[in-house]
Amino acid sequence: MGSVIIGTGVAVPPRIVTNDDLAAIMDTSDEWIRSRTGVRQRHIADPGVGASDLAADAVVEALRDAAVAPEDVDVLITATMTPDQFAPGISGMVQDRCGLGHIASFDLRQQCGGYLYGLDLADALLRSGKARCVVVVGAEVHSGYMPYGASWEILRGQRSGPADPVDHAAATEARGWAVLFGDGAGAAVLATDDGPGTGFVGSVLRTDGSHADLIEVPGVGFRHQPYVDAAQLEARAHWPSMNGMELFRQAVTCMPAAVREVLAGADLTVDDLSLVIAHQANDRILDGVRKQLGVDADLVPSNIARYGNTTAATLPILLHEQRAAGRIEPGDLVCFTAFGAGAHWGASLYRVPGAR
Ligand code: ACO
Repeated sequence: MGSVIIGTGVAVPPRIVTNDDLAAIMDTSDEWIRSRTGVRQRHIADPGVGASDLAADAVVEALRDAAVAPEDVDVLITATMTPDQFAPGISGMVQDRCGLGHIASFDLRQQCGGYLYGLDLADALLRSGKARCVVVVGAEVHSGYMPYGASWEILRGQRSGPADPVDHAAATEARGWAVLFGDGAGAAVLATDDGPGTGFVGSVLRTDGSHADLIEVPGVGFRHQPYVDAAQLEARAHWPSMNGMELFRQAVTCMPAAVREVLAGADLTVDDLSLVIAHQANDRILDGVRKQLGVDADLVPSNIARYGNTTAATLPILLHEQRAAGRIEPGDLVCFTAFGAGAHWGASLYRVPGAR
């Protein structure tokens, strides 16, 4: 018995912030952002909209796509690094909003690797017979991190510039990471399947905690007493801190290695792949993955230009788009791969049910 994807859904907030919009509130340019990352715009949630809201919308769409009633879901897995509040996590909020039963639900904290881990866990639950239908959703609202102050009013079209000099300086201080991220959610419904050799046919999940500091939010955690105070805020300890170059090196090394490892474990090669759904962190990282695997751009599609990095949501958003575009056909071999903060990474192989 295997597990197959029977429906997908996406929810992104309607508001779009372009690179030129960002250039109005910090020292940056469309040219810098596009040439270094491939990002042209990102979707931005309004205040009061949390990851649970986007996740719930994506789950509702995925259930509709799968023609599955909410009461037929057995387990809900939510992957996010930007929960609505410090505790509890968002899975209960999504369960409630979607009208799911009093089922098992939990949050995963594997950042950009979260969705990959969620798919693997769903597959294990389905194979073991513990569940017959599992929903996996990745959702992020990164906007809360962005230190834009009153400049949000400019981004939201409530007033024109110029930005206040203090806000401009803070946004410029954060530009190395702030321009990369966007908000959004994507979900998939997985169910058991009796087809021979179809569904998830292999996975490799890895962790190297010695790289946890490559991208992290160093402060506002419970090792510090009190867990949040003015000194930490003053020191920007609640901001993400990122070693971009080393992260880049790790991502372009670990993702292709995991793809090759999972292929070898299934007695397959890169030539057998129909599609690689890779984490969307940066177009240059995707170029590196293609180069390491020796494949054409078409095999490793990118949508980062439109969304930026939506962390746990990049895989399901891209999966949904590729399904909608008819890129996923019966018999195809699809590889999912991601690298995220922690560091957590890996790859999984999915054989689409049905004969070619
Ligand atoms: N606009 C203009 N200038 C900028 C910006 C910006 N948005 N950001 C940084 N700069 C400046 C820096 O201040 C620096 O200026 P200086 O030389 O005068 O000091 C210069 O550009 C170079 O900065 P670097 O940080 O060295 O830029 P780099 O060429 O390394 O590119 C980047 C940065 C794009 C983030 C790159 O390191 C990268 O792609 N890293 C991968 C990280 C990533 O994708 N993270 C996503 C989240 S993690 C994940 O998903 C796993």
